[in-house]
Amino acid sequence: MHNLITLGEFIIKNQRDFPYAKGQLTNMFSAITLAAKVMNSQINKAGLVDELMGKVGTENVQGEEQKKLDVYANKLFINALKARNEVCGIASEEEEETIIFDNESAINGKYIFLIDPIDGSSNIEVNVSIGTVFAIYRRISPIGKPAILEDFLQTGRNQVGAGYVIFGSSTMFVFTTGNGVNGFTYDPSIGVFYLSHPNLKIPQDGNIYSINEGNYAYFSDNMKAYVNYCKEIDEASNRPYTGRYIGSMIADLHRNILKGGVYMYPNSQKSPQGKLRLLYECNPMALLIEQAGGMATNGQQPILDIEPTDIHERTPFYGGSMHMMEQLHKILHA
Ligand code: AHG
Ligand code: MN
Ligand code: MN
Repeated sequence: MHNLITLGEFIIKNQRDFPYAKGQLTNMFSAITLAAKVMNSQINKAGLVDELMGKVGTENVQGEEQKKLDVYANKLFINALKARNEVCGIASEEEEETIIFDNESAINGKYIFLIDPIDGSSNIEVNVSIGTVFAIYRRISPIGKPAILEDFLQTGRNQVGAGYVIFGSSTMFVFTTGNGVNGFTYDPSIGVFYLSHPNLKIPQDGNIYSINEGNYAYFSDNMKAYVNYCKEIDEASNRPYTGRYIGSMIADLHRNILKGGVYMYPNSQKSPQGKLRLLYECNPMALLIEQAGGMATNGQQPILDIEPTDIHERTPFYGGSMHMMEQLHKILHA
């Protein structure tokens, strides 16, 4: 058994480290963990409950088919946040436009929330891990007025909080408020998250490489060279590495943060901008990786320094163990 510190206790104890107003953080995290608990109970029924499995028959703004659980999770998180009035605007993978609250209480909300409600949608039906990932910013527009687009288009460096929930063999909540990364494991029998992974640090070295190698033919020559490097025999550098790819960025990165490794979704002939979305997938994961002592880039610069121009923009993404990332950059720029 662990030290039995609950998520609620941890947040209250550590909110003095949060640079801004205290109760507001607690409220936002209450919304997230409540929605995560509802999700947990629903996901465990997927397959039994028809309303949760399968396609809705609609596409999201990126032209991807929406699963019932995508739509369900999206509404759930939005409603949980809306009820607490700390957030004045939300951007979601499943919403083409930003959601800007204009009721009297919410326009006084200081925070902007960006979310991928379900990451790894294609894994739902086959009982493989999925996740939820989010980023929190302070608004830059004046309090008391509706949020504006610029509030959403801040660089990842401005995040005041980021985290993910992974629904795997157990459900975990991992987050940062810019002062390290902590992981909490859910005990569904009593509905409590316990601190199970305090002060998470990603190993500097690792031997896992994660990439959709089915796209190899579309990769640049340098990207191909790195994939081949991972598979070469070289005892001194612990190669060949192990290939692991779940197809849910959250789950792939969660494993690599714990064990050490590098996760890549490069640009390629098939996806010239890469596939992953900067604002609600890459930025929060990049902040968590940096806070855990790792590195996350688009191959040229830190993900967190990219100036966004569109809420749904994509970026190549490379993230993980520091030394593996350094070697990857060497080969990408050879
Ligand atoms: P989402 O389910 O939110 O659309 O995201 C899926 C993303 C990411 O999580 C995953 O790593 C990647 O797509 C997998 O893409 P490929 O199937 O192209 O490898
Ligand atoms: Mn996703
Ligand atoms: Mn998604």
